[in-house]
This record gives sequence, structure tokens and C-alpha cells, in this order.
Amino acid sequence: IEETLVLIKPDGVSRNLTGEILRRIEAKGYSLVDLRLVQADRDLLSAHYAEHEGKPFYEPLIGFMESGPIVAARIAGNRVIEGFRSLAGTTDPTTAAPGTIRGDLGRDWGLAVQQNLVHGSDSPESAARELALWFA
Ligand code: GTP
Ligand code: MG
Repeated sequence: IEETLVLIKPDGVSRNLTGEILRRIEAKGYSLVDLRLVQADRDLLSAHYAEHEGKPFYEPLIGFMESGPIVAARIAGNRVIEGFRSLAGTTDPTTAAPGTIRGDLGRDWGLAVQQNLVHGSDSPESAARELALWFA
């Protein structure tokens, strides 16, 4: 059984969407293995987003992720890494497909960073690395 890291980003927590997002994950048949509410610091966020350092949205992204509590979840299931990415929808909430978390619930606020409610690990290597960071 595979595991992935799901983050409910500060926009999801502040918009009271935590229950709705976890409901969708559980309705798909995935299992909650571990859950925490975290105020992430810069060290954790710069490690998490190391691949994006230097990109134009990097600083706004870190600032956004520092702006409030995040729900970190360890989720298990068959092919859950790929499956959760599909459940989340594509990065931009404007064009994410209806039926997905970002497509149904995401808003485009016209800001310097996409506030797109959730993060999901994008490969087995990322999942192992990110789970070790958020569930040290
Ligand atoms: P995550 O699950 O959060 O990693 O999203 P993703 O894999 O769909 O996107 P990616 O890893 O490429 O980027 C990480 C985060 O940076 C995204 O979720 C957005 O919040 C933000 N981001 C990525 N690309 C852009 C972009 O082109 N413009 C803006 N404004 N924000 C972006
Ligand atoms: Mg990503």
C-alpha cells in the first residue's frame, strides 16, 4: 500500500474546507494514517518547496504557506499518489476540472501565487521525502 503527503493549505483551513476535503479523500476509499495542524516555519517550507527556489512565484508561495495553519495528512491507498493528484485537479483552479477539489472549491483571487487549497506529493520519491519532513 502506497502513502502520500496531502497538505490542506492556509486558504483551505481558513475557508473551513478541511472537513469537506478530508471527506472527499475518505469517500474515494483512502485511509487517514496520521494528521496534524501545523504552523509551518520557513525552514520547513523552503525544504518542502526546494524545487521551486528562484521561480517568480517562490517568495509569494512561501509567504502564503506561512500565513496560517496547514493541515498535514498522511494518506494511504492503492496508487494514492497518482489518485490524489487526480482528485485535487490541475494547479490552476480556474481551469481545474469540475468534480475535483480545485475545480469545485478553488477560487482564482488574481494573486501572485495560486491559492489552490491542497498539495499532494507528485511521485514516490517526493512522497517519501515530504512525509519525512512533515511527520519527522
Ligand atoms: P502542489 O501540490 O502544491 O505541489 O501543486 P502542483 O504540484 O500542482 O504545483 P507545483 O508543484 O508546480 O507548484 C507548487 C505551488 O506553487 C502550486 O500549488 C501553486 O500554489 C504555486 N504555483 C505553481 N505554479 C504557479 C504559477 O505558474 N503561478 C503561480 N502564481 N503560482 C504557481
Ligand atoms: Mg507540486
